[in-house]
Amino acid sequence: MIGKNLLSIADLESGDIQGLIDSAIKLKQGGPKNLLEGKILALIFEKPSLRTRVSFDVAMKQLGGDAIYLSQAEVGLGQREPISDVARVLSRYVDGIVARTFAHSSVELLAKYASIPVINGLSDEEHPCQVLSDLLTIYEKKGRLEGLTLTYIGDANNVANSLLLATSIMGIDFRIASPKGYEPKGKILAQARKTHFTQDPKIAVENADVVYTDVWTSMGQEAEAEKRKAAFSSYQVDRELLALAKKDAIFMHPLPAHHGEEIAEGLLDLPQSVVFDQAENRLHMQKAILVKLMGA
Ligand code: CP
Ligand code: NVA
Repeated sequence: MIGKNLLSIADLESGDIQGLIDSAIKLKQGGPKNLLEGKILALIFEKPSLRTRVSFDVAMKQLGGDAIYLSQAEVGLGQREPISDVARVLSRYVDGIVARTFAHSSVELLAKYASIPVINGLSDEEHPCQVLSDLLTIYEKKGRLEGLTLTYIGDANNVANSLLLATSIMGIDFRIASPKGYEPKGKILAQARKTHFTQDPKIAVENADVVYTDVWTSMGQEAEAEKRKAAFSSYQVDRELLALAKKDAIFMHPLPAHHGEEIAEGLLDLPQSVVFDQAENRLHMQKAILVKLMGA
């Protein structure tokens, strides 16, 4: 059950996820304001961000609170001072922390030492806020979650890991097509229930309700970019591949996208693409998460 923090999708049960979706829908419809009046959120980011940073900042302001952005250059998480000290100091000033880190253990350490809620705003292992808002988007577009098929094409990265866990909890059939060496691994795999693996994107996409992809090279992996481009060259999502999914299938990508790499040029302009609704829903879902963890 949802506790003090949101570090991993594995922290949640299906009731928690449906509760967050329902709350996000109400907030999106203009529902109760000022639920976080006077509350301050710290945003500690070791990596760049557009959507996560702006949506959390705007969410706090629209809920009557405020946010402070702290870059790695300023805070030096684990470099200028230990993570445990940063957590204990911030707990004396603010009401919640969103952290975007390289090591997943960094968000876990923050959560361990902070007396306030800590939210994972993306680590090398997971991107829970992204995937919760993606479930909101799928629910809005399809009217249900259970029984759908979601196909993920590409790297088994942080987003894929959170999708794998979330689909498992919500009864969505998850298929993933990744090249050899880039498949889901380790503890995430052990937690997966209804997951089907293949190396063939065409097989994976057949009859899917949702086709999802993400970058081939995530933040922090830049040195491997050329090697990854070669490994993923036949994993681009294009019109032909999308045509193999269900007629009413939707296409999703967390953004930022590399047009001409993991997606063909122009793909985001197709009627199947819901990526900008997906980006908007980050705002509504962040509000639901913040109210759940920091509200009265
Ligand atoms: N999708 C996402 O998290 O985007 P940012 O990296 O811009 O926050
Ligand atoms: N997998 C990507 C997601 C960015 C939102 C990354 O970690 O860079």
